[in-house]
Amino acid sequence: MPQSQDSNRRFVLASRPSGAPTADNFRLEQADIPEPADGEVLLRTVYLSLDPYMRGRMSEGPSYAEPVAVDDVMCGGTVCRVVESRNEHFSEGDWVLAYTGWQDYAVSNGNGLMNLGASPRNPSYALGVLGMPGFTAYMGLLDIGEPGEGETLVVAAATGPVGATVGQIGGIKGCRVVGVAGGEEKCRYAVEELGFDACIDHYADDFADQLAAACPDGIDVYYENVGGKVFDGVLPLLNTFARIPLCGLVSQYNATSLPEGPDRLGLLMGQVLIKRLKIQGFIIGDYEKRFGEFFPQMSEWVADGRIQYREEIVDGLEKAPEAFIGLLQGENFGKLVIRVGDDG
Ligand SMILES: NC(=O)c1ccc[n+]([C@@H]2O[C@H](COP(=O)([O-])OP(=O)(O)OC[C@H]3O[C@@H](n4cnc5c(N)ncnc54)[C@H](OP(=O)(O)O)[C@@H]3O)[C@@H](O)[C@H]2O)c1
Repeated sequence: MPQSQDSNRRFVLASRPSGAPTADNFRLEQADIPEPADGEVLLRTVYLSLDPYMRGRMSEGPSYAEPVAVDDVMCGGTVCRVVESRNEHFSEGDWVLAYTGWQDYAVSNGNGLMNLGASPRNPSYALGVLGMPGFTAYMGLLDIGEPGEGETLVVAAATGPVGATVGQIGGIKGCRVVGVAGGEEKCRYAVEELGFDACIDHYADDFADQLAAACPDGIDVYYENVGGKVFDGVLPLLNTFARIPLCGLVSQYNATSLPEGPDRLGLLMGQVLIKRLKIQGFIIGDYEKRFGEFFPQMSEWVADGRIQYREEIVDGLEKAPEAFIGLLQGENFGKLVIRVGDDG
């Protein structure tokens, strides 16, 4: 059933997954469309962002953010239209960046909304290259990675919104950029469209050898998005004083236990010491106050074509669970966005 003006479709978290999420962990409900009170706006979702961090919100346990409660609406960034405004800062028809989750309608008092105006050029970009993932790429690479001219930068999940942006900023800063991605088509895109110097398929049996061959001068910056086998290939190639912005570990998000095998913490810590590595985890929310540095610069790069951006837009809120499950298995090619309702 498509979006309508009569009811609010919403996906709630039906149960917590053990390992990879399944369709049973989500439940589609119909609810009444909420009424905005004085000072509030009624928002209609047009685009819903699907992001790897949502897997963490489905589980209990210590993290940097509270989990979604069972039976609550799944969280998520959205681009919405204002349907009704009882708030002086918003007009009917305005586009806004919001955080209203996997549903058709929500009310807001305006806190946390970003007004994108009456006719933004690419409204969905606010969920990607001009929003949270682009900002993550920009701050993690420039503030922690500190890429220098002529240095070698490696980034995995290289065609996703974070990785693709990291690699292209690295290129602008004069780095030799080596991507890691899942499959030949993604690797070709990274080189031919994004301008990476090389891109290695992490499914290849000789992945580590190919990566070593693509990094003849070692690795100065490794922007960590995935962990696991990719990190294993990177570790021996890291140069003295290499920097590792630890942005994400998507290969481990569905894991229920640590991988089998010998304890390699000693090896890792030995390398950190001998090579004086800097490994720094970060959460983009910590950089909130610096959004103003990122946004004009990235808007300029996107407008002048120095940063290319690819979206995978899936039509229909009902497809969100399936698309999200696929995201955690590398099935998306570009920023995964659900078109929930009419974008006209
Ligand atoms: N720290 C922060 O504040 C912050 C903010 C935003 C995002 N992140 C993190 O940044 C990373 C990238 O996010 P994104 O939004 O740009 O995601 P994305 O690239 O659109 O999607 C995830 C990609 O990860 C790769 N992947 C999935 N499972 C994998 C596995 N087992 N082994 C290797 N690669 C795997 C797949 O690409 P391939 O098919 O190419 O392997 C998949 O397309 C994620 O780890 C995310 O959690 C962190």
